[in-house]
Amino acid sequence: FNFKYDEPFRPLYHYSPFFGWTNDPNGMVYKDGEYHLFYQYNPYGSVWGNMTWGHAVSKDLINWEHKTPGILPDSEGTIFSGSAVIDKFNTAGFGKDAMVAIYTNDGDRQTQNLAYSLDNGKTFIKYKGNPVLTDPNIVDFRDPKVFWDNDSKQWIMSLATTQTITFYGSKNLKNWEKLSEFGEGIGAHGGVWECPDLFPLTYNGKTKWVLLVSINPGGPNSGSATQYFIGDFDGKKFTPDPLPYPLWIDNWRDNYAGVTWNNEPNGKTIFIGWMSNWDYANQVPSVNFKNAMTLPRELKLVNNGKHLVLANPPIETVKELRKETKTYENVSVNDTYTIKNLLSGNEGAYEIEMDIKPEKSNEFSFILSNNNNQQVSFIFDLTKEELSLDRTQSGDTDFAINFSSVIHSPIVKRNMYKIRLLVDKASIELFLNDGETAVTSLIFPKESYNNLTFKSLDKQPIQFNNINIYKLGL
Ligand code: FRU
Repeated sequence: FNFKYDEPFRPLYHYSPFFGWTNDPNGMVYKDGEYHLFYQYNPYGSVWGNMTWGHAVSKDLINWEHKTPGILPDSEGTIFSGSAVIDKFNTAGFGKDAMVAIYTNDGDRQTQNLAYSLDNGKTFIKYKGNPVLTDPNIVDFRDPKVFWDNDSKQWIMSLATTQTITFYGSKNLKNWEKLSEFGEGIGAHGGVWECPDLFPLTYNGKTKWVLLVSINPGGPNSGSATQYFIGDFDGKKFTPDPLPYPLWIDNWRDNYAGVTWNNEPNGKTIFIGWMSNWDYANQVPSVNFKNAMTLPRELKLVNNGKHLVLANPPIETVKELRKETKTYENVSVNDTYTIKNLLSGNEGAYEIEMDIKPEKSNEFSFILSNNNNQQVSFIFDLTKEELSLDRTQSGDTDFAINFSSVIHSPIVKRNMYKIRLLVDKASIELFLNDGETAVTSLIFPKESYNNLTFKSLDKQPIQFNNINIYKLGL
């Protein structure tokens, strides 16, 4: 079946369930030409509950096909977040190349369980020996992310254990041994730790390890957000580099619980997050479905001039969504300048690309607005090294107490910002300098923003160059 794209706030090029509720992406794995996306799903309504693994597949991570749900609740409880692996060496004995899901059952307690598929994710069989990992002493004990570690020749599981991440090792996915625990006294602790992910990335020819940890509440702008650590992993223990933690993969409010694909065929590390916030996810004003995923993003380590950071630009193929291009003259302002009617027939799925040269200006902004007095402002303060989003007049903001807000993110002062801003009906993703900064926000405007205003706030000259507006479509 296909989406009804005419329903308000239904994204065009982001994954959203046809009907019902979604939160975390789960069990992302590649097999035989298909990227699988499972996700926390309520098939019965557009609020959290009845947690089930929804399922979608894609050849390119952009065009998604809805599948029947993958894993359903059972006597152990509902199906919370987790991961999936391809068991190439049949270590678990379920079959060579079995797709094995490792997930949390939420019942009287939280336990880790296995289900396997021998038909590329169409049907799953629950392992008879479930649960495979329990701990009577820990209440918040969930979200297993598993990968095969070639150096130590075993499966490694990262598990959220209240406010730490515990690593376990296994030769067969069934018997798990505790290896180490990480997190005390480091990073943000304003809420419970969830949805960890540990993976290697190459930087300057050397392997570094990155640990993602989602936290709710306790994010930098209220509610839920995802922090990360960069360091080393020796097969047992994660040792963080000394960096100014907490570091957040996305400092704005609407990118949570993201993890990476297992078995990615091109050796890339591809991340997708849940594009919402526990502060208001149950109240957002879409009707037939609630919430969607972020764009798939490729994770890379880069030095931002101060230290290593986890850049997350959109995957390359997002450029293939560009349908029509409109190119505008360079703009130089020391006050205000507006381009009206950015795109004719603007239906709310578009990309803005431009270069900002601040020259002597330290405070400037650009504003997207519609003809209903609704707008979002992107405000740069280079003295504070901060990028803020004012969404207080963005459209419908009253559905939850604190959706309406001004949201801040640190940035690095630079002579030039290469901007990519992707709008998809109810979302904005803004990427600076190839994802060195990546920030995400929900918006619920009555009609698409179609005017772009440039402002020098300190009246110093500033240039907006190479402005291209693309209409995006599948
Ligand atoms: C994160 C989370 C996970 C849990 C799931 C339940 O958003 O709370 O820790 O497994 O959602 O839906």
